[in-house]
Amino acid sequence: MKPAVPGPCVLVVFGASGDLTRRKIIPALYDLFQRGQLPRRFAILGVSRSGMSDEAYRDHLAQWAGEMARQHSEAAWSQFARHIHYCAADATRVDAFSAVGAAIESAGARHECGSSILFYLSVAPQLYIPIIDNLAQSGLITEGKRWCSINRDETPWQRIIVEKPFGVDLESARSLNRALGRTFEEESIFRIDHYLGKELVQNLLVLRFANTIFEPLWNRRYIDHVQITAAETVGVESRGEFYDRAGAIRDMIQSHLLQVLALVAMEPPGRYADAPIRREKIKVTEAIRIATAEEAAGRCALGQYGRGPRDEAPYRGGKGVAPDSSTETFAAIRFDIDNWRWSGVPFFVRTGKAMARKLTEVVLTFRQPPIDLFSSLSEAHASCGNRPPNRLVINIQPDEGISLRFEGKVPGEMRIESVKLDFDYAARFGGEAIEAYGPLILDAMRGDQTLFKHRDEVEGAWRAVAPFLDPALRRGIAGNYAPGTWGPPESEHLLANSGCTWHNPGIEETR
Ligand code: BG6
Repeated sequence: MKPAVPGPCVLVVFGASGDLTRRKIIPALYDLFQRGQLPRRFAILGVSRSGMSDEAYRDHLAQWAGEMARQHSEAAWSQFARHIHYCAADATRVDAFSAVGAAIESAGARHECGSSILFYLSVAPQLYIPIIDNLAQSGLITEGKRWCSINRDETPWQRIIVEKPFGVDLESARSLNRALGRTFEEESIFRIDHYLGKELVQNLLVLRFANTIFEPLWNRRYIDHVQITAAETVGVESRGEFYDRAGAIRDMIQSHLLQVLALVAMEPPGRYADAPIRREKIKVTEAIRIATAEEAAGRCALGQYGRGPRDEAPYRGGKGVAPDSSTETFAAIRFDIDNWRWSGVPFFVRTGKAMARKLTEVVLTFRQPPIDLFSSLSEAHASCGNRPPNRLVINIQPDEGISLRFEGKVPGEMRIESVKLDFDYAARFGGEAIEAYGPLILDAMRGDQTLFKHRDEVEGAWRAVAPFLDPALRRGIAGNYAPGTWGPPESEHLLANSGCTWHNPGIEETR
């Protein structure tokens, strides 16, 4: 069992003055502190190049904490901020690490938090490998000794959190994994994916394995197809420069959505613990059929938003975007999972910017009954083939909840209509949604890898999307969908080819 409350440690954030640190990481830690979830003895050490005192760094963060944290008061902030320190160093230079090491030691001594260290790479991805290599040479990593010690839990640990993007393709992901593996044990590497911190994503395991009613139906015998959608109404905003090199497949499908797919498709783990859960997810990733170059075109629909009907700016020509860019801002892909449970059941995964509404959901559409008992009813009572199939919708955000659609008899006449059982997360459990970063950082401090990606999952996901990264598939996609829609017509065709249609709920419809 992993400890419920983490032990003392120093959190070292590389990229201390970056956007992610001030908007997400520090406000999340501040929230945890206010809820009493951080260890009593802890320190945060920010590392980046600009020269700054501890005080100046705390002031810099205070403005953001006020805006981004769930709760804020001067008193709480000043108590929390005492734990924050700063070290000016260029972490891409190995000679900077004597200063970093000294700052870690001094923060650790000041807050009596011993010498366990959680490193957080919140820097530009091209800096990951240089920093990891420098850590290796710095003498700060003594993980190897833990393996030989009699009581590993009493020996200080060093762990590392690595942000996405985790590589830009299979080759770069492998070389990052190799760099990490040269320095850290796999059990000390925490590849973060904020989707795994979302309540309804975690609830997928509970829904499937804490109940008996779903699992017997959760297979090729009863499920016709699965849809996983992550739609956003915003465009790429100020992130054009990053996004234009990434695109929707790298940004969302390889990372977040294949994780959701793995949780939907995995076999039950032997027990609720990180290693068995990750093993089952890896097996799913390995069972995804890899499309050949010829097959890829028929299994995906790519798009890029153009100018909108109300003169919304197109993707091309946006800040940081090449004027002739062929980067996809929309992608829909059909994945097939070649195993006993899922053979023949398509998994349609789609994501896009500038779409009709913000929505992340999983939809399982069930097969029609084997015979149509009600076919003798008159025309108006639609025969089985025309009746809506049973459908389970799991809304991950923003209307968190689950609904099950089935057929019911209308009172007073022999007529059939669809009805819904609906579970609304907020109505039942109330409270504000928790920002995903806080609990994930806490898990890394506790050494719990359940909600982090294993090396093999990351590489498997790159293998699965690789055929769809071919530039030839992007020719002529510019402006093929208007902002505020559900993507290009090809996306509908992709499903129509398998006799399916996307679940595109109206603006008022929650699930
Ligand atoms: C990030 C992507 O990982 O996830 C962004 O880089 C995307 O492009 C974001 O907007 C979506 O996250 P969420 O939590 O809003 O669904």
